[in-house]
Amino acid sequence: MSPNAKPAKKPVSTLFSTGPTRKRPGWSPAALDDAAVGRSHRAAGPKARIQTCISKIHSVLELPDDYVVGIVPASDTGAVEMAMWSLLGARGVDVLAWDAFGRLWVADAVTQLPLENVTTHIVDYGHLPDLSAVNFDNDVVFTWNGTAAGVRVPDGDWIPDDRAGLTIADSTSACFAMDIPWEKLDVVTFSFQKSLGGEGGHGVIILSPRAVERVNSYTPPWPVPKILSLAKKGKLDAGLFDGATINTPSLLVIEDALDALLWAENLGGARGLIARVDASFALMDEWVARTPNYAYLAVDPATISQTSVCLRFVDDWFIGLIADQQKAVVKDVEALLAAEEVAIDISAYRDAPTGLRIWCGPTVDPEDVGALLPWLDWAYVQTRAHYQADAA
Ligand SMILES: Cc1ncc(COP(=O)(O)O)c(C=O)c1O
Repeated sequence: MSPNAKPAKKPVSTLFSTGPTRKRPGWSPAALDDAAVGRSHRAAGPKARIQTCISKIHSVLELPDDYVVGIVPASDTGAVEMAMWSLLGARGVDVLAWDAFGRLWVADAVTQLPLENVTTHIVDYGHLPDLSAVNFDNDVVFTWNGTAAGVRVPDGDWIPDDRAGLTIADSTSACFAMDIPWEKLDVVTFSFQKSLGGEGGHGVIILSPRAVERVNSYTPPWPVPKILSLAKKGKLDAGLFDGATINTPSLLVIEDALDALLWAENLGGARGLIARVDASFALMDEWVARTPNYAYLAVDPATISQTSVCLRFVDDWFIGLIADQQKAVVKDVEALLAAEEVAIDISAYRDAPTGLRIWCGPTVDPEDVGALLPWLDWAYVQTRAHYQADAA
């Protein structure tokens, strides 16, 4: 079909936001009817819901038996900073960054925590640092999927099994959507409002036995606020991993996460979710190969994120514009897509290069991704024609 022709078919859902993401197909507020609202989260019934949520996360992700899962305050950021504040300082630290979120963890390591031996590996958007330069005698902090760049690590092969340090992986836009080799990771974090389409507010932290051992054998020399503490009296706060949250959780958020996890179970668990992501990405990849207007921001094909797909505009006319004009064109493309009720919330992350970001996680229907793609070309070509007519 010519990009000048208006596509006939629209996505059923216009929701392609990268977080909060769209909810699972068929979701309605009735999914929360059984939430234990108005009750104490320490009472047996509500606590059992939290415990069920923890055990479903464990089983759906197919975590090793000896990994533990806790629900913590302050979303994914809370979970990552909990790991950093509670675990780092026992040895040197390597911190990797290739998007805004990785840079946050670099800033924590360099400007917030009084760490003595920090090595940073920071690269521009679109690239991945040289993974062979990472020192695994140190603890290593990185992001499995750089959501703002659409760049992920290709696999876990670069992480040695016999590492001395801990690996701490912010995996919020990767968990439930990509294959993750758990044995390579000692701390994994995510939040419900990414792949599960859950509500925001809480983070999830997953610890390997080696991370638990660190908590039990090491106390950081700095003050650790209660909400960032994995320890109680110098030992792992075991209750946290058995549904006794540090402070008051939202039982609505827990109920909603349970609903998403049940949906995941009905699809066959993480494998079913990943199959949906793969189906969407196959459509995306086939389209990117053929569109003259867009390309991935990720430079190396092995590192392209299948969930947070970041696109740049590559048409000659667009490349010839100055930065402010490019931004204006992209805004107009987005406005046209929104006006046509095709897609909303698809702006690139605020400090990422100009472009679009399309969430293709498990809750997004692959058919909707397929329906969206011709619209991306159409909206760009229409917008370009407008500008060119104005300039003539
Ligand atoms: C890789 C990554 N880390 C951290 C965050 C911050 O997450 P939260 O808002 O759950 O703290 C995000 C949000 O998009 C993210 O993509």
